[in-house]
Amino acid sequence: MNRRTFLYSCSFVATTIMGGCEKQSDKSSKPTIKSVETQKPDDIYEPFTQELKIPKEIDFENVAKAKFNAQKSLAAIYKDKKTEVLTFQGDLPNPTIRIKNRDDFELDFANSLEKPTIIHWHGLLVPQEMDGHPKDAIANQATMEYRYKINQRAGTFWYHTHPHGRTGEEIYRGLAGLYIVEDENEKKLNLPSGEFELPLIIQDRRFDKEKNLVYKQTAQDNNGVLGDVVMVNSTPFPYKNIKNTKYRLRILNGSSARTYKLSFEGIENFALIGTDGGLLEEPIIVKDVLIAVAERIDIVVDFKDKKIGDTVTLKTLGFKEASNFGANSDYPSFGAQMDIMKFKITELSSESAVLPAKLTTIARLKESDALKSRTITMEIIEGGVWTLNKKPYDMDRVDDRVKLGSTEIWVIKNAIHMAHPFHIHGAHFQILDRTGKVDFPTDKGWKDTVLVMPIETVRIIVTFTIPGLFVYHCHILEHEDHSMMANFLVE
Ligand code: C2O
Ligand code: CU
Ligand code: CU
Repeated sequence: MNRRTFLYSCSFVATTIMGGCEKQSDKSSKPTIKSVETQKPDDIYEPFTQELKIPKEIDFENVAKAKFNAQKSLAAIYKDKKTEVLTFQGDLPNPTIRIKNRDDFELDFANSLEKPTIIHWHGLLVPQEMDGHPKDAIANQATMEYRYKINQRAGTFWYHTHPHGRTGEEIYRGLAGLYIVEDENEKKLNLPSGEFELPLIIQDRRFDKEKNLVYKQTAQDNNGVLGDVVMVNSTPFPYKNIKNTKYRLRILNGSSARTYKLSFEGIENFALIGTDGGLLEEPIIVKDVLIAVAERIDIVVDFKDKKIGDTVTLKTLGFKEASNFGANSDYPSFGAQMDIMKFKITELSSESAVLPAKLTTIARLKESDALKSRTITMEIIEGGVWTLNKKPYDMDRVDDRVKLGSTEIWVIKNAIHMAHPFHIHGAHFQILDRTGKVDFPTDKGWKDTVLVMPIETVRIIVTFTIPGLFVYHCHILEHEDHSMMANFLVE
């Protein structure tokens, strides 16, 4: 049985007898899984034959106001066939927002989807009524005016819709994009820019033979939807022609569930210069770096030792530590190793930007300044429901009350044998410590999302400066939807 036919019979079995799929697939598809993990859906597409798409930009230096309309569209993800997707402006990738600190953000949002939805600005520190709380979802044909002033450090953020119970599927079908904040401090550093600054939104997806996106298929997909086609900026397994010099890559993991352990075949070391909340104090030289769902990394990669004709492959190394949970075994597992995209050196360059040794200063929050310590547990309750503190999310329940302006320590305890990216709206935090053995260089920077490893406890410290009702949640989209999320009120 080939993999695709198996896929359909598998989902049929799963809807008939829960759990039947796992056993059957273990027996019958082992060899197929191996070939999937080493290489790709060649039955529908030849990898590394399409050039990386670069999202167009909405630069608030030149425009006063933007317009988004959540809608069904057709996008040329593959050259030979259009795919039905969801977009904000009619095509994928959605535009990148670029704006300077202290500037005014103005965007009119219309909802042309059948069901209510709302846009959330992930990592942006905005008033609660602008944050896109799921309770603020607007109905079909309704509109919403987003107006706020940017008030934070430069960094790589993103936007996506956030209706309760449907965030996973909406992002999966396209409703996400990048959001870049710039400031004077960063400008002085002369980091690679223009053609040497590339946004990379990494998302694994599933397609059927007709190149339609396929979302959840089996009960195990509630553990997290994993795909076998890795798209970067809505381009499946792309390549990018480059020059042999330094590039700044702003990378977002916009997947549903997969953590990537990114490294470059052909380049040993690269510099991590920023995390979710902005620049690190100084570059950290790494061989690979973990990026969980919703996290961003800002890296500088130097291609100077490469000659014309050389190729460098961005790949994810196996990261089996992330989960020993069953996932839909028709697709590369949580720990799979995969090639993602290729950089082809096609031109020599005389540019030689120098990466500064000092990037910024990060004032460390002090444990002794914390007013309170709060424990949050990640658990599964009866019926296989993913929760925080054993309570399925209730949009109208306030789970935690926080004093405005106060600093707190949050102790996040993962009771499950699967890693979860924990995210807070309306605040940036710092990592105090973690009990596990995996090293996260990103822990040194400002964060809004942190991966808590299986049976690990991570302590974070955070100051709450914006009043109102916000959410915190697991950012594996299928967990967030069912129902690993809670409300906190800053007052
Ligand atoms: Cu990416 Cu609730 O956020
Ligand atoms: Cu968010
Ligand atoms: Cu989770």
